[in-house]
Amino acid sequence: MIDQYAERWALITGASSGIGKEFAQFLAARGMHLILTARRENLLNELAEDLDRRHGTQTIVFAGDLSENDVPQKMLAEVQSRNIEIELLINNAGFSVVNDIANTDTDTVLKMVDLNIRALTELSYRVLPDMMKRGHGSIINVASVAGFQPVAYMGGYAA
Ligand SMILES: NC(=O)c1ccc[n+]([C@@H]2O[C@H](COP(=O)([O-])OP(=O)(O)OC[C@H]3O[C@@H](n4cnc5c(N)ncnc54)[C@H](OP(=O)(O)O)[C@@H]3O)[C@@H](O)[C@H]2O)c1
Repeated sequence: MIDQYAERWALITGASSGIGKEFAQFLAARGMHLILTARRENLLNELAEDLDRRHGTQTIVFAGDLSENDVPQKMLAEVQSRNIEIELLINNAGFSVVNDIANTDTDTVLKMVDLNIRALTELSYRVLPDMMKRGHGSIINVASVAGFQPVAYMGGYAA
């Protein structure tokens, strides 16, 4: 049986480490071409070289800070300029702030909201219409069980 993902493209946010990197390794092994994004370009390039060598798939690296408002759109413009259809979007980039509110830097919390919520929402809304027109495509949003309950010292992240 032909893998539904082979020779198609996935965009993975937060691919330089952790869960996002695992997704990249798993999907490249299934023959998927990848757009990898995160801030640490050197780690993305190392991963891209490793995947290309091991699986012969294509990998594009886009380094950027997704909590900056214009970055998601810039990244998608780059994807579009290469005529790439995104079959699978994995919204994985994210971080948490753990502290009592009095000792929490508000700007850091706002960056967290911009990354965990804003970038995820923007990428989903910009990618979904083409998937719907084509009649296929998927989005995976990596979240947390913290989202199911209020969590002490992680109020913003859990919300
Ligand atoms: N690990 C857990 O126990 C756990 C539990 C529940 C949910 N989660 C969620 O799972 C996702 C992945 O977590 P993980 O454990 O794999 O963490 P991780 O290893 O820290 O990975 C986070 C990824 O997001 C990227 N990232 C962070 N800030 C970014 C920014 N401003 N712009 C672009 N990319 C950014 C990081 O790359 P750069 O630093 O290179 O930018 C990294 O690739 C997160 O959304 C996290 O909230 C994790």
